[in-house]
Amino acid sequence: MKIVFSKPGLPQTGMVVVGVFAERELTSSARSLDESMNGGLVRAIEASRFKGGKGQSLTVLAPAGTRLDRVYVYGLGEAKDVDILGLQAVGGQIYAALSSKRAASVHVAVDRLEDSELAAHEMAAEIALGARLRSYRFDKYRTKQKKDDKPSLKTLHVHCEEGEKARAAYRVSDKVADGVFLTRDLVSEPANVLFPESFAKIIKDELEPLGVEVNVLKPKDMKELGMGALLGVAQGSAREARLVTMTWWGAGKPAKKGRTSKDKAPLAFVGKGVTFDTGGISIKPSAGMEEMKWDMGGAGVVTGLMKALAGRKARVNAVGVVGLVENMPSGTAQRPGDIVTSMSGQTIEVLNTDAEGRLVLADALWYCMETFKPKLMVDLATLTGAIIISLGHEMAGVFSNNDELATNLVAAGTEVGEHLWRLPLGDEYDKMLRSDAADMKNIGGRGAGSITAAQFLQRFVGDVPWAHLDIAGVSWSKKGTPTVPKGGTAFGVRLLDRIVADFYEK
Ligand code: BES
Ligand code: MN
Ligand code: ZN
Repeated sequence: MKIVFSKPGLPQTGMVVVGVFAERELTSSARSLDESMNGGLVRAIEASRFKGGKGQSLTVLAPAGTRLDRVYVYGLGEAKDVDILGLQAVGGQIYAALSSKRAASVHVAVDRLEDSELAAHEMAAEIALGARLRSYRFDKYRTKQKKDDKPSLKTLHVHCEEGEKARAAYRVSDKVADGVFLTRDLVSEPANVLFPESFAKIIKDELEPLGVEVNVLKPKDMKELGMGALLGVAQGSAREARLVTMTWWGAGKPAKKGRTSKDKAPLAFVGKGVTFDTGGISIKPSAGMEEMKWDMGGAGVVTGLMKALAGRKARVNAVGVVGLVENMPSGTAQRPGDIVTSMSGQTIEVLNTDAEGRLVLADALWYCMETFKPKLMVDLATLTGAIIISLGHEMAGVFSNNDELATNLVAAGTEVGEHLWRLPLGDEYDKMLRSDAADMKNIGGRGAGSITAAQFLQRFVGDVPWAHLDIAGVSWSKKGTPTVPKGGTAFGVRLLDRIVADFYEK
């Protein structure tokens, strides 16, 4: 879908979209449209239940006295409550309502609000972003789709004052949306198509043209580095593991490799990339197992984030590290009770082969820390079913050894509507990982499953400021929202792009 910003003033034909506030108070565009309809818009509104509340809408077909095909009226709620997320939702709602209506283009009027901090061009850019985010589809494998099942909308015209400024604002968020779409594609791909090797190739193909350095480690390299924890997970699969690093030097490359000066030190983002999680020998029940194709969600977010940062040329140094493996049961699979040695030298008794994400991250985090000496590390992982018990599908869990980082993450999440809830870490939880046979075991007790998982990760981050996002409940949506269609959500891309922009970009 193309998005075009134009001068105020709706066309006389086609489909047009105007806003109305709570209590049926018209915006100025709605008022002038009503005039050209000889009061027909107000009559249509009054004859309906539409009151102008947030999320409400009304459609008027072929209004008499005009040559328009359709007028779509969206509710804005109280003028004083109009905010960025609400406008994105409006954009998404407009897209969803009109993309199935045969029209190839629609024209949306955006008026300046009195006593609002938001300028009309900012509002226009947010509506455009919402529409773009909602327009995502994953239909590459549907060969029998009829024309009427496909979205018809090709161009969204957004009419506002200072279109030039709207265009500039949208240019940035459009790049972030590109990152979101890449993540959604990765998460949606089935595991016969997306496996470590093919994932690594996509990363190269997508990111290298943007100026990101991509480095791919193969099993032999990882063996030399001593990554016994990650390789132990991979050993049951016919698909070879990969560990991929992506570096974006948007704030200038440090003079010497490995001796990163403090202010050039990169931010690091580390992702769990289990391209399919059967559970291994501790095999999962078959019902719902297909969902484990998106157990690479963390790695998907890291990849999409790097695309967003490079795409919008963020003035920041950032590195992405993803550990890519497939967790399968087989004659070569690791067994419950096996003891593996991680790259850090710490040994791990694998009591449950289904607690594999933390084993992958143990080596990915350690490698990241040693290789890049990052300013901070944020990992993302579809790590525990327990986080779904705690927070459902509404929020992700955040764990951190650094209050400032945790606070910034929560704030960035609130801004973009990707909500985080901080959960505790502590010695008593750490003790639950004690093993009789090795330095630690890979599962805790019955309770606090998400916390003991985070506690496990903390053993591999030294004293680098670090946060762990458990995104198991939010990576896939069965119901969707105005800006997130059903399916892969890419939760985390916008949040991390935001924290970079708000707190770490020069
Ligand atoms: N990938 C799963 C976690 C998961 C569950 C993600 C549901 C998305 C939806 C993870 O590898 C796992 O299997 N975790 C186990 C840990 C347990 C064995 C300690 C779990 O949560 O049951
Ligand atoms: Mn598992
Ligand atoms: Zn898993």
